[in-house]
Amino acid sequence: MSRFAGKAVAVTGGASGIGEAAVRRFVEDGAAVAFADRDAERGKSVAAEFASEGAAVHFVEADLGGEGEAARFIETAAERLGRLDVLVNNAGIRRYETVTEASEEGWQEVLAVNLLSYALSARAAIPRIAAAGGGAVVNVASIRGIVSGPRCVQYDTSKAAVLGLTRSMALDHAADGVRVNAVGPGPIFTPYHERRAETLGKTRDAYVEEFGADTLLKRPGTGREVANGIAFLASEEASFITGTCLFIDGGQTAI
Ligand code: NAI
Repeated sequence: MSRFAGKAVAVTGGASGIGEAAVRRFVEDGAAVAFADRDAERGKSVAAEFASEGAAVHFVEADLGGEGEAARFIETAAERLGRLDVLVNNAGIRRYETVTEASEEGWQEVLAVNLLSYALSARAAIPRIAAAGGGAVVNVASIRGIVSGPRCVQYDTSKAAVLGLTRSMALDHAADGVRVNAVGPGPIFTPYHERRAETLGKTRDAYVEEFGADTLLKRPGTGREVANGIAFLASEEASFITGTCLFIDGGQTAI
């Protein structure tokens, strides 16, 4: 497939999980891709893997929660790629706290990455996407934008805000030829969950079984399954879709 041939795509948090799967999906569809991540070791190794396959993928080391970093990533990506057609806001972190446990610093940390970096990347990207003739922004939200989990107050709040941000940006920038949508993943087994299983002292199999149990399909999804939705929303096939969220959750929010 070459539905993104000649197109340039920027992905945040592309060194792992859903972000890495999105980079791969866009590369397979013919795009030139730049991705940012704060994990330099993993970012370099992902970029090297693509280089060995002959793909044009640029890694930019950036901590997107830091001041000016989201804008710097987009500027660097547009410079290296020569244009920008699609932005995928994906980098995300979480803490396990209730509102009475959460510190001001903890709130700022989560909101800086999960919300502000999305807005500030878009701020830098939208004029460039418009200048390239129009394109799309896809924000990785979560089912946690509409349902809550225990002790995830900052994360769940940030994901609800991403849905609001998505609608606002869609409204304000439709006239610039920029469509803005979100994906709302449910349980997706990524390296984040490999680490989580280890922290909780659970075997991978036990964790996977429990993790997918609330879906209609009785399994967690894969990064690839989310990346397919991201690429669809970014593509011309979604030309009449803006300001919405595609839940990719095995039906978890249908019940
Ligand atoms: P992951 O932890 O495997 O990958 C996230 C990537 O973002 C990592 O490479 C990490 O280094 C990078 N990152 C984190 N903070 C950063 C920062 N400040 N600056 C630059 N890079 C940063 O996580 P996963 O599971 O792939 O999650 C990706 C997105 O999908 C997140 O927004 C997450 O909230 C969302 N999501 C994930 C779900 C899941 O079940 N895995 C479910 C719903 C949403």
